[in-house]
Amino acid sequence: MDLGTKLFRSVLLTMAGNRAVAAVAQRYGLKLGARRFVAGETLEEVMMEVAKLNRKGISATIDHLGEGIRSMTEAEAFKQEYLKLLDCIQEHKVEAGISLKPTQMGLSLDPDAGFTHIRDIVQRARKHQVFVCIDMENSPYTDSTIGIVQKLHKEGLRNVGTVIQAYLHRSLDDVNQLTNKAVVLRLVKGAYKEPNNIAFRLKRDVDENLKQLIAARLDSGVYTAIASHDAAIIDWTCTYASERRISRQAFEFQMLYGVASPLQERLAKQGYKVRCYVPYGRKWYPYFVRRLAERPANVMFILKNWRVR
Ligand code: FDA
Repeated sequence: MDLGTKLFRSVLLTMAGNRAVAAVAQRYGLKLGARRFVAGETLEEVMMEVAKLNRKGISATIDHLGEGIRSMTEAEAFKQEYLKLLDCIQEHKVEAGISLKPTQMGLSLDPDAGFTHIRDIVQRARKHQVFVCIDMENSPYTDSTIGIVQKLHKEGLRNVGTVIQAYLHRSLDDVNQLTNKAVVLRLVKGAYKEPNNIAFRLKRDVDENLKQLIAARLDSGVYTAIASHDAAIIDWTCTYASERRISRQAFEFQMLYGVASPLQERLAKQGYKVRCYVPYGRKWYPYFVRRLAERPANVMFILKNWRVR
């Protein structure tokens, strides 16, 4: 990555956390171009999009957008939204799990209450036979997020897993520890701005680490999601699995809504399990800006389409 792109990315990631900009942006609904990455603002809209994906043989994990909340009242409201979402998944009989962010449940404000909110959601999900993935946020929350999943597993709630980010130096240890406890994991490269002393800087190093994590998981037989749009990583995974006769049912590919859709459809047609991460809700701004930061060309795409409108 050249210096200009790095700087641009860093500015976007800083903007993703800016509340004042978020408030202004969200007032304009999804008109700013976020519609490409966000399925809608309401439950009805997201159900329609998920049903469309299911018809193409692609399942979903639905994320009700919202992070960095400021009060436990907000956390309670988000929990209620997730409970409604779970009932809606059951009612519409769509093939979908859910993804949630621990800070959205109040982890940074009141860890005990945040944990209780997550447990309530996982319990309702278990009733509907739905899987819950606890997304991984930035590094101050890595230990607590892993701790929540382990605690829920100890309580017998097995329909919950989390995410491991290949850019963190610690990740192979985390993967090994969680694999021993048969925790379902999603492996990603990592989307946040992290200090140099704890994270790999170079794409080459992140990619190598991701491959190591994928290999460890596929060898273990514990169900794993490989969440990447990187064609080289996906090809590598397919080859690794086929050379070792690892069943295509033992893992799945996950990609984001609005990103690499032809690739998602092609893999599904080839008999791989594919799940699309489908976000919805009014608080779409930080999610949207992180997607732009991943690929600065997206900014040009959005600007061009905005001008035309
Ligand atoms: P990489 O960034 O190398 O991109 C490879 C290629 O993919 C690019 O060249 C481009 O063609 C395409 N591409 C990637 N991003 C794109 C975009 N936004 N728009 C258009 N094209 C794009 N992170 C995290 O820290 N915690 C989490 O919980 C999650 N959860 C999660 C779930 C799922 C289902 C996915 C797919 C990703 C995440 N992530 C995440 C994000 C992840 O860490 C990472 O930032 C992105 O997936 C981008 O990395 P890639 O692996 O796609 O590769």
